[in-house]
Amino acid sequence: MQPAPVLCGIGTSLPDRVVTNDDLAARLDTSDEWIRTRTGIRERRTVDPGTATGDLAHAAAQGALKSAGSAAVDLVILATTTPDHPCPATAPHVAQRLGLTGVPAWDLAAVCSGFVYALACASSFVRSGSAARVLVIGADTYSTITDPDDRSTRAIFGDGAGAVVVRAGTADEDGAIGPVTLGSDGSLKDAILVDAGGSRRPLPDGLAQDGRYFTMQGKTVFRHAVERMSQSAEKVRTEAGWSTGDVDCLVAHQANARIIDAVAAQMGLAPEQCALSIERLGNTAAASIPLAMAEAARSGQLRAGSRVLLTAFGGGATWGAAALTWPDVTPVSI
Ligand code: COA
Repeated sequence: MQPAPVLCGIGTSLPDRVVTNDDLAARLDTSDEWIRTRTGIRERRTVDPGTATGDLAHAAAQGALKSAGSAAVDLVILATTTPDHPCPATAPHVAQRLGLTGVPAWDLAAVCSGFVYALACASSFVRSGSAARVLVIGADTYSTITDPDDRSTRAIFGDGAGAVVVRAGTADEDGAIGPVTLGSDGSLKDAILVDAGGSRRPLPDGLAQDGRYFTMQGKTVFRHAVERMSQSAEKVRTEAGWSTGDVDCLVAHQANARIIDAVAAQMGLAPEQCALSIERLGNTAAASIPLAMAEAARSGQLRAGSRVLLTAFGGGATWGAAALTWPDVTPVSI
């Protein structure tokens, strides 16, 4: 019988520094009221200089391995668009720091959909029998790529990391990951963009260059995010054989509380069925889904056996969704 992927551990890591809306309003033309009412965000975490995505990823992974009760892993996938360096990938170094030298490890760049993409890869490796235990990490430090003077991006993003362990098991166990769907639309490539620093527009020698910061067409992203997240979540719900009433919790990418509300409304779900970490953490990009899952598990919103839909939308544009039942796990924060 083909093995089924089963989520069996979850860990998180957040930087200590809290940046409130009032902190931002003290130096940018914005206000706590605007940010709260337009995005649902009250505060976010940011790394101090010297702390990189790999550091948060390493800590979250340690938490996930502890939560899973075993450090054994035969594959590491790190979803991020803020790697420690443009080259090489960050995952091999994270794996080495975890004592996993020799294990295949790579970065996956699907922006805010990265965690769902990485979970899909992990699930496929497990289903095919190519891996028995996979460490999936979502980690980002958008404070390192957003313009400190840009109120529209600076207000939204926060830094953080979340990780899960996926092991080979059976489809009827709590934690079993069911249908997964992924998609992309490159015609939207400019809607979320860091223009310079890649091969199309390499940064010349010197410091602060035009195009090095993250830019976003907010309204376009908003519209597509609602459509793609609700459609993909509905697709996996149907494929899982669940009615709308069967769904216990929607863990949507935490981009904007209004986007999550709109996705839930389109799917016929109540706002209370949505996991929400955005108020305290902002949009943590690839980390947002595991961070929201961990918070929901800690608060009791997710319990063993809960039927969960994950859904995400990000730059590229990319999107994806997955259906799973929640396992009996305790999230570990490091
Ligand atoms: N404080 C005050 N004003 C702000 C602001 C802030 N933090 N951010 C943007 N504004 C301003 C804009 O500059 C604009 O001003 P202008 O009319 O003078 O040009 C005005 O608010 C309206 O901007 P707009 O972008 O139309 O606002 P919005 O209601 O669409 O909200 C977002 C902006 C970014 C919150 C919203 O579009 C959004 O959440 N989009 C999706 C973001 C997302 O999901 N990103 C990640 C996806 S993976």
